[in-house]
Amino acid sequence: MGVIVPLQGGNRDERASIAPLVDLTAASMASVNDIILDRAGSNVEMIPEVARHLIDSGGKRLRPMLTIAAAGMCGYNGVGHVKLAASVEFMHTATLLHDDVVDESDLRRGKAAARLVWGNQASVLVGDFLLGQAFKMMVEVGSLDSLEILSNAAAIIAEGEVMQLAAAKNTATTEDEYLAVIQAKTAALFSAAAEVGPTIADRDRTERAAFRSYGTNLGLAFQLIDDALDYGGNASDLGKQVGDDFREGKVTLPVVLAYRRGSDEERAFWQRVIVEGKISDGDLETAVALMRRYDAIDDTVERARHFGAVARDALAPFPDSEYRSALLEAVDFCIERAH
Ligand code: IPE
Ligand code: IPE
Ligand code: MG
Ligand code: MG
Repeated sequence: MGVIVPLQGGNRDERASIAPLVDLTAASMASVNDIILDRAGSNVEMIPEVARHLIDSGGKRLRPMLTIAAAGMCGYNGVGHVKLAASVEFMHTATLLHDDVVDESDLRRGKAAARLVWGNQASVLVGDFLLGQAFKMMVEVGSLDSLEILSNAAAIIAEGEVMQLAAAKNTATTEDEYLAVIQAKTAALFSAAAEVGPTIADRDRTERAAFRSYGTNLGLAFQLIDDALDYGGNASDLGKQVGDDFREGKVTLPVVLAYRRGSDEERAFWQRVIVEGKISDGDLETAVALMRRYDAIDDTVERARHFGAVARDALAPFPDSEYRSALLEAVDFCIERAH
C-alpha cells in the first residue's frame, strides 16, 4: 500500500468545488436527510443499525443534490423532488452495501464496511430493504415518469455489476466493454438522478434529454476518475482503500490501457496478477509504474475530461442561472476530486 501519486498538482484554491451546489441545495437537502433518517427506521433492530452505520458516515450526497438542483433549475416549486432525491440516495446506499460484499471491500466512507461488522448476509438484506423503501417513496410522489426512469436505472445498475463480474480478471476487456460496464453501474444512476428533475417539473422531452445527457456523461467521468484514484489516490482522502481494484482483478481502464500498450513481458505480469491473482509485495507499485510508463492513469483522466465536456455542453443551451453554474462547476469538481 501507500502508493500516492497525485493526479494533478495546482493550488487548492483554484480547484473547482461542489460548495455552490451544496449551498444552493442546502435547504432541500436538510429535508432529504430527515427523510433518509426516518425511512431507514424499522422495528427490526438490525436494519437501522446497519443502515445508519453507512448513512451517518456521510458521503458526498452528490446524486440527490443533482435531483434537487435539476428540479430547481427547471423551476419546480412542489415538494416531490425531495422524496425523489431521498430515493436516489437510498438506491445509491443500497448499491454500496451490495457492492462492498461483491468486491470484498473492507473500508467505506472511512469506516469498516458494514459487511465486516454485520456480515455479508445482513449487508445484502439491508440493501434490499433500502431499495424497497426507495420505491415506496417514488410511488408516494406519484410521478409515473419518474418511477419509470428510476426503476429502469435500478435494473441497469444491477446489470452493470453483473457485467463487471463477468468481465473480471479478463485482460482482453476492451475500452468499449469497460465503458459499457461503467455506463450501467454508475452513469445510469447519475443520469436518472438528473433526469427526474425536469421530469417532475413537467418539462419537455428536449430538456429531459439534456439533463439525462448531463447526468450520463458526468457519471462516466465520475467513475473514470474513481478508477484512476484507485491507483493514483490515497486512502485517507478517499475513505476507501487504494488498490482494491487491483487485488480483486478488476479490469478498469488504467489496466486496459497499460495491458494493451505494454510489451509481451509486461502482459505476462498482468496475466499473473490480474488473471491468476498471484499478487506479492511490490506488485501494486509495479502496476502503477507500468501505468505511468504508458500514461494509462493520465489518459483515464483525459477520457474523464472528455465526458465532462460533453456533460457541460448538454446544459449549454439553458439560460444562465445559479443552478446551472453550480451544476457546471460540479462537473469540474468530479474530475479534479481527490475523494
Ligand atoms: C462511490 O460513489 C461509488 C462509485 C460510483 C464510485 P461516491 O464516491 O459518490 O460515494 P459517497 O456517497 O460519496 O460515499
Ligand atoms: C461502486 O462501484 C458501485 C456501483 C457503482 C454500483 P465500484 O466498486 O467501482 O466503486 P467503489 O470503489 O467500491 O466505491
Ligand atoms: Mg466496490
Ligand atoms: Mg464494484
